[in-house]
This record gives sequence, C-alpha cells and structure tokens, in this order.
Amino acid sequence: MKIAMIGTGYVGLVSGTCFAESGNDVICVDNDKKKIEDLNKGIIPIYEPGLDTLVKRNVEEERLTFTTSLEDAVEKSLLLFIAVGTPPGEDGSADLQHVLNVARGIGRCMREYKIIVDKSTVPVGTGKKVRQAIQEELNKRGENLQFDVVSNPEFLKEGNAIEDFMKPDRVVVGCEDVRTAEIMKELYSPFVRTGKPILIMDVSSAEMTKYAANAMLATKISFMNDIANLCERLGVDVGQVRQGIGSDSRIGYSFIFPGAGYGGSCFPKDVQALVKTAAANDYRLEILESVEAVNRRQKEVLFNKVQKRFPEGMQGKTIAVWGLSFKPNTDDMREAPSIVIIEKLLSAGAKVFAYDPEAIEEARKVFADRISYGKKSYEVLDQADALLIVTEWNEFRRPDLDRIKSLLKAPIIIDGRNLFEPKKMKALGFDYEGIGRI
Ligand SMILES: NC(=O)c1ccc[n+]([C@@H]2O[C@H](COP(=O)([O-])OP(=O)(O)OC[C@H]3O[C@@H](n4cnc5c(N)ncnc54)[C@H](O)[C@@H]3O)[C@@H](O)[C@H]2O)c1
Repeated sequence: MKIAMIGTGYVGLVSGTCFAESGNDVICVDNDKKKIEDLNKGIIPIYEPGLDTLVKRNVEEERLTFTTSLEDAVEKSLLLFIAVGTPPGEDGSADLQHVLNVARGIGRCMREYKIIVDKSTVPVGTGKKVRQAIQEELNKRGENLQFDVVSNPEFLKEGNAIEDFMKPDRVVVGCEDVRTAEIMKELYSPFVRTGKPILIMDVSSAEMTKYAANAMLATKISFMNDIANLCERLGVDVGQVRQGIGSDSRIGYSFIFPGAGYGGSCFPKDVQALVKTAAANDYRLEILESVEAVNRRQKEVLFNKVQKRFPEGMQGKTIAVWGLSFKPNTDDMREAPSIVIIEKLLSAGAKVFAYDPEAIEEARKVFADRISYGKKSYEVLDQADALLIVTEWNEFRRPDLDRIKSLLKAPIIIDGRNLFEPKKMKALGFDYEGIGRI
C-alpha cells in the first residue's frame, strides 16, 4: 500500500518504518527540516532499540523515504496517517493545532480519494474536526472529493516500540465505512498473525479507548506508589506486597512497580486531557484527579529522601544521579521525574553530576550547564555526597557495589526504582533507601 506518515516523531518514525518493513511504500513527512535532512543522511533523531537497523534496511530497499513536502506525499499515497504531537494546551486539554494544520494541509493539496488516519492521541470529536477542516479547504477550492477519516490510536511503548508495533496486543480502528475497514484490516494483517484482534469500532469509541487505556495504566502506577508510601510508614515491604497482589490474575504484575512517578509524553498529558474533557462535559473524573495529584507528589519523594540525609542543608553538596530519561531504553526526557528531582536539588543549593546511557543530549536541552554530565556511570560518583537512582537502565542493576562505596564520600544510595535488596545493602554498609521497602 502507499502510505504517507505525517509527523516523523517517536510514533510516526516507528510506525512508518514498521509499515515499510511489511512491504508497503512509506513516505515520512515532517515540517522539521533538520530532522528530515538528518534522516536522509541516515541519522536517526531518537534512541529506540533496533530502529536504526530497520530504517537503514527499508531506505536501502527504497520502501521508506523522508520529505518535508506534504503535497508530494499526499499525491503519491492513499493512506495519510497523522502522527503529529498533541501536547497539553495552557489549560491541560489536548492542543489540536498540529493535527488540524495537517488536516487543512491535506485539504489544500488532495486531488483524489484519500483515507486520512488519525494516529495521534486525540479527544473524542477530533475525527469530526479533521473531516470538517479538510472539507472547508476543499470547499474553498470548489473541489468535490470523497475521503474517509479513520481513528487508529497507537499503543506502542517507547523503549520497546518496534516489538509493540510488530506484535500488538490488539489494533484499534475507528471507522464508519466497511470498505475502508477492510483496507485497514489488510494493512495490519501481517502484524496480527498470531490471532490478536483488529477491533473495528466507531471513531469516537476508538478515540476514547486510547485515553481510557493510558488513564488505567497511570492509575495502576499511582495506586501502587500510594500503597508503597503507606507500606513505608507501616514498616511493610512493598516488594512482597507487589508479588502478593501481582500473582492475582485479575490484577497482574505489569505497572505495579512503585517508583519515582510516571512521566513521558503520554500519561501526564493524556490523564490531564481526559480530566479536562470530563470537566467540559459537566463531569468530574475524581479518580484521575487523584492519580495526577499522587503522581505530582511522588516525583518529590526521592528529593525528600535525600534532603532528610542532610539536616544541615544541601548547600554545596554534590548529588550523583543515575538515569535521566523518563524510563529506560529511550532518550525521551518529556515530563521525566528526573526534571522535578534535579530542579529541587538545584533550588536547595546542591550540585548535580548526572549520567544516562542515552539521554544526555536531550537532558542538555532541559538543564543546559546548570548540572554536570558524566560520560560513564562511575565517573559521576567520585566525591559525591550521595547517589540517586532515578531510571532503571539495565546497566544499573548489577553494578560494582564496592567500587560505588569507594568513590562516594559517604555510602548513601537513594534508589527510586528498588533495584537492590535493602537488607543486603545495609549488610554491605550502605545507607540505602528504596521506595516502600524495609
Ligand atoms: N511517544 C509515544 O510513546 C506515544 C505512544 C502512543 C501515542 N502517542 C501519541 O502520538 C502522537 C505523536 O507523539 P510523538 O511522541 O511521536 O510526538 P513527537 O513530538 O515525537 O513527534 C511529532 C512530530 O510531528 C512533527 N510535526 C508537527 N507539526 C507538523 C506538521 N504540520 N507537518 C508535519 N510534521 C509535523 C514534529 O516536527 C515532530 O517531529 C501524540 O498524539 C502522542 O500522544 C505517542
């Protein structure tokens, strides 16, 4: 099939590349000239495991190309995917300006029947707005063209995006037209060969499904963080409680690891947008309001634990930070808990020496030279007053603890991801604290 992927970010680049990998001709469009220039030189703008190999192969086999020309991509493609950002607006509701700009752009240049597929996460009713924006442009040109608008929300996780896209638990397609539904089913059939469902539903239900899924996952995280904080106060080990409840098949193990709060480009903005959608419809989503509030508080928990270690104040203390990205295997810093923690450390007068395997470049855009960056994990420990583990990259799971102890000024480790056994760490002479562990 001929596909245009408009918006070549985390979702657009991964989806476009995976569609090309299954034999389609894909043109990825972006209005960021530098991004497209880089991609055309073989430079991948994001860190996502396995993506570089897949992009290279599909570019070489001429199934995947990159352009800034929307017009060219629209002309050559039947399926026009919209995968641009939907950041929070000033009041927290989803800002649809990029989606509607693309829709208007499509309306200005399409010359024959097209299927417009919304892959961005958008509130209920956006499908109608996209249709209207395209129609208005066609009317201005006096064109009478048919087109369909489909909602196809994306469920991939950064850090495991290719695997998630290639082997989805389900594909959700909001679509009112039977023929278009068949085309979407054909497009996705290579990815659901193990029998995973392609769920055809109406456009609004598909739009809502994406928000409900993210809101449920964010709820699990905040719930477990809340329980962990209570465990800590009661002298209970949340690690054992997690196994006790995770083994219940109605609950399951995923998304119940306590930690430093959820971040990233999706959960925070999507929970907020859903709360706003409810408010605009005279309803309060009280559970999600609490999910947000618990998450805001959780992002401060690590800082509070460090601060407690230094009753004399943090002025002049150097804190080593392991992990900056919002989760492992990505360089994405959007809404990362590390931002809240580091800003609080800096405000308290501490110096921060940070290491992350992939996110340093993105972190520089946030902190510039207000913090120092190490090229290696152990480098940042030298003469630091404490180590703070914020992101659970694999390389932090089994470090040389003797080396850590010898480098730190005092053997203090505050672990936001519960990577180690508290009893073992204490036996080794560390002043060690996790989240909800005893
Ligand atoms: N990142 C994720 O893990 C994830 C997962 C599922 C769904 N989503 C949703 O997918 C959407 C995209 O997210 P993302 O993380 O890929 O965003 P992103 O910011 O990484 O990428 C968006 C891209 O769109 C481009 N763009 C903006 N306006 C454009 C225009 N008019 N024409 C062409 N390109 C334009 C930007 O330059 C950017 O490269 C969002 O709605 C998000 O909520 C994201």
